Amino acid sequence: MKKLPKDFVWGGATAAYQVEGATKVDGKGKTMWDDYLKAQGRFAPDPASDFYHLYPEDIRLSKKYGLNAIRVSIAWTRIFPKGYGEPVQAGVDYYHRLFKECLNKGIEPYVSLHHFDSPKTLFDDGDWLNRKNIDHFVDYAKFCFDEFPEVTHWFTINELISLAYSQYIQGNFPPSHKFDVTSAIQAEHNELLAHAKVVNLFKDGGYKGKIGLIHVLQPVYPYPNTPENQHAADLSDAFMNAFLLDGTFKGEYTDKTMKLINEILDANDAKLDIQDGDMDILKKASTRNDYFGLNYYQPSFFAAYDGESTNHFNGTGEKGTSSFKFKGVGQAVKNPNIPTTDWDWNIYPEGLYDILKRVSSEYPNSKEIFITENGLGLKEELPENVTDDTIINDDKRIDFVDQHMEAILKARSEGVNVNGYFVWSLQDQFSWANGYNKRYGLFFVDFATQKRYIKKSALWYKALADTMK
Ligand code: NOJ
Repeated sequence: MKKLPKDFVWGGATAAYQVEGATKVDGKGKTMWDDYLKAQGRFAPDPASDFYHLYPEDIRLSKKYGLNAIRVSIAWTRIFPKGYGEPVQAGVDYYHRLFKECLNKGIEPYVSLHHFDSPKTLFDDGDWLNRKNIDHFVDYAKFCFDEFPEVTHWFTINELISLAYSQYIQGNFPPSHKFDVTSAIQAEHNELLAHAKVVNLFKDGGYKGKIGLIHVLQPVYPYPNTPENQHAADLSDAFMNAFLLDGTFKGEYTDKTMKLINEILDANDAKLDIQDGDMDILKKASTRNDYFGLNYYQPSFFAAYDGESTNHFNGTGEKGTSSFKFKGVGQAVKNPNIPTTDWDWNIYPEGLYDILKRVSSEYPNSKEIFITENGLGLKEELPENVTDDTIINDDKRIDFVDQHMEAILKARSEGVNVNGYFVWSLQDQFSWANGYNKRYGLFFVDFATQKRYIKKSALWYKALADTMK
């Protein structure tokens, strides 16, 4: 097996709203999710994995199982309940305690400022579609940089496309619009602008540490491979990947990308509002990212389609992709040669290799790459005769991570600068539209008792990290 450098980052990933629970304590404000989940009545965000109280235990386990890093996010509403105004000291103190615990245990915190959890007040006021909220985000970021000098690895926003897409195309995140192309593409642009403003502030302010953002990349392949289907794949790629990568690392939307984006906008009577000065801000930031957080789960397969948009998505995230038809783009199709997960997600490690090669050759400003999420969601249960020492068998997850690690090693051996891997997720957690049914963790969480059990993948992950060092 090829070796990795001693300082390779072995991490586990979390996000505030998915793990912390404690949504109503210590003055925390509501996010865009609280009332939405309550109205749906399917899942509650409390207690999640009760990380708000149990973080010392999860950090202890992280250390024990060979990790040297953890991804966490700050809940904007713990510090500014409305997204702006006076900071809440209890929220600030919590994050100081959390970072201190990480650092004392030799676990480096990689901290995101926004992970799908906009403050409700700002969400009600248009979320990322309202440019005033970009300024609130910049103020919040500045507060965090000043307040938490112990953090030296920052990410601005997590998965801009998932948020925009789930909110405005698929409709499984609030405010549940479907195929609202204008809002989706505008949210992508505005979030890029928010990211760029924060990066410029960080660099101009001379803050110590590194900063970047996180995109989930979903390579799109034509299926079957015909010129028409290739064009559909290109359109989908522009919407899901190229627009965001261009904006982040080139500081411009290239002619090639815009031609495709305009085709989608025209077909949907949609428009994009880029204001004077926006592109200068993006340009300035485009060379100033210290690294790039790349999340990878699956590719999609696309075929040409000439008709109205439909999506038989049932709100659970299960078996959704195969019926997805997007006017002006194409239709997601099933490739029968590719295995899928319990949630019908394609398992295709080559997609990770392909996208790594592409990022490194087309976007050299990405500099250093961390795989900030990759993992397998499974339906898992505790065995009936469970004891404290029970190890939960998750061989499928081990295979999944193993194959994706091979793809990373291959890309690295060809010069791609990948220096870390964060498995999604550290412990089982609240998985948005899938609630508590979809488990990704290295550590099993019994949500009724909050007890942690070790999965076989945690042992395997430690052994892998040890042999690679
Ligand atoms: C990406 C997101 O960042 C995370 O919040 C989510 O739970 C995982 N993907 C799994 O869908």
